Amino acid sequence: MTTIIPTSSAEHIVKGLSDYVVILPEENKDGKRYFPDGEIYTRIPKIANLSDDLLIIHSGQPNPNNGLVELEMLLQIADEKDKSIFFTYFPYSMQDNVFQDGETNFAQTLVKKFTDYYGVKKIYTIDAHFWGREWPRKYPIENFSAVPLLKEKAEEKYGDIFYMTPDIGAQRRTGIEGTKKKRLDSYTVEITSTENLAEKINGKVVGVIDDLIETGGTMSRAYDFCKGNGAEKVIALITHGVLPSGISRVKKKYDDLFLTNTINRPEANVDVSTLIEKILNQ
Ligand code: R5P
Repeated sequence: MTTIIPTSSAEHIVKGLSDYVVILPEENKDGKRYFPDGEIYTRIPKIANLSDDLLIIHSGQPNPNNGLVELEMLLQIADEKDKSIFFTYFPYSMQDNVFQDGETNFAQTLVKKFTDYYGVKKIYTIDAHFWGREWPRKYPIENFSAVPLLKEKAEEKYGDIFYMTPDIGAQRRTGIEGTKKKRLDSYTVEITSTENLAEKINGKVVGVIDDLIETGGTMSRAYDFCKGNGAEKVIALITHGVLPSGISRVKKKYDDLFLTNTINRPEANVDVSTLIEKILNQ
């Protein structure tokens, strides 16, 4: 039987995993997960008595850097066990390539460290931004998509929906057609499309699917494109709500937002714990 240990960013997820033994790490004497100087504290009492099979569940947001320290501490505490990690959101997953000279592919560095140094036998991810690149194939990573679950929830409410994606990366991950995107800076993007796609949108309820929202710039331009081409309603289907300001921007603009809780955000309305349970039971 697998024992599940969530890091502090994933405690909300394990509430939905009733079939598993879940151990919450202990806090320090102040009842906190960190000391006054900002260092992280974590403890699993009687670790030796837990099952040999341990699954650590972690979300790479809202605290990507502190979260990694907490995760590494748990991996060290569980050194003697058979360890797997379930990343509901993988941190640094957009730094998944060396785009320019002098950069590092930090997503790969992390995966390598988990598997080679900490001996993690399996890494699960949900809609990882790096999925579809060559390098993840070298590691024991299984990626699952929350898109079917998001579509199911959206269709329960809206019936027939025409789906599109805002950029090539999303097209690679989902196989759903869409626009092309050019990023000018962190906050500004431009979107272009074929006439064919623009015609298909007219008069439809359009569902724009993307893996994540940061500033909301991408989804915002995608909305303008859909409305500008006569969409009746435009709804957003998003796996990871990375930045609160971006989520608010999309929520205000779109007719509706379906967002999973891979990251603990108040706007999340699609629970992935059923998906996680299905994956673990397969
Ligand atoms: C890009 O490759 C991602 O899939 C998202 O489209 C992008 O990161 C969203 O960022 P923002 O919300 O800042 O446009």
